[in-house]
Amino acid sequence: FYSNTMNKPQVYVTRQINEEALCILSKTCEISIWTGPGPVPRTELLKNIENKSGLFCMLTDKIDAEILNKAGKNLKIIATMSVGYDHFDVEEIKKRGIKMAYTPDILTDATAELAVALLLSTSRRLLEANEEAKTGGWKAWSPFWMCGPGLKGSTVGIVGFGRIGQEIAKRLKSFGPKQLLYYNRSEKPEAERDIGAVRVSFDELLAESDFVSVSCSLTPETKELFNEAAFKKMKSTAVFINTSRGGVVDQDALVRALESKTIWGAGLDVTTPEPLPLDHPLFKLKNCVILPHIGSASIETRNDMAILTAKNIVAALKNEPLLTELVV
Ligand code: DGY
Repeated sequence: FYSNTMNKPQVYVTRQINEEALCILSKTCEISIWTGPGPVPRTELLKNIENKSGLFCMLTDKIDAEILNKAGKNLKIIATMSVGYDHFDVEEIKKRGIKMAYTPDILTDATAELAVALLLSTSRRLLEANEEAKTGGWKAWSPFWMCGPGLKGSTVGIVGFGRIGQEIAKRLKSFGPKQLLYYNRSEKPEAERDIGAVRVSFDELLAESDFVSVSCSLTPETKELFNEAAFKKMKSTAVFINTSRGGVVDQDALVRALESKTIWGAGLDVTTPEPLPLDHPLFKLKNCVILPHIGSASIETRNDMAILTAKNIVAALKNEPLLTELVV
């Protein structure tokens, strides 16, 4: 379904992707693909990146000076099938004049949906309750069994009030919280007006919120923002939700906070490392729900992400403007 002809620019694709995206690429490029299983091993990526003009990669592929040196002078575009780009050594890429592309916007709704699902699964103990139902823990309807905090009348705090944070807030608003707070580097006056969220300091958000949902990107400033001190500032009844990157959390501090009931519970779609080792203490905690980084995993969204990534590569190789260039 796609042709490989000489003289076309060569593109390396680090994972098996949908045919639609491959077709878009193959019209302009000669493609080679890592078909798995799993993410491309570093040694394979190093071997295959040589002389390529484009790289179609994933958040599981660390793109640093070693990869770029191996690629050589032909490399013009690195496009990641993700909105997060903390796997890029941005300075090294920029230094070489290589263009970068990512997939903002199109995954916002899917990720916000998942954040809400994770929040409710954590607060209303869905996984724990399902386990009880399956294993005989469900004896009879009981007045206070499997209870958890409700959203109605609560204070919801969103950390990182960009596209995804705002969509999470909009969705949570329909559950009737008393107030929506946000903590963000910059003010978001339009969103404040539309959503009715109030900008507060990080400490104020921690102290006031019954639900803390994290949707900021991982940067040197947000690395381990949620440390022991942060968890201690939160309510003991608070639910902590993270759908951004595991690196924004000091995970050992989170384990201690959950074990000691410093906070009520946590729902994590992202961890450090990924996958989280099966013997990790977080897996042993009933008050912790862990998902395997599926925020954007709606069928339509993942298809669209791959298509957008392919289009960005083709545009760059034709010297046309990128659809979603990453400019930092
Ligand atoms: C991203 O795009 O950065 C998400 O983490 C996965 O879709």
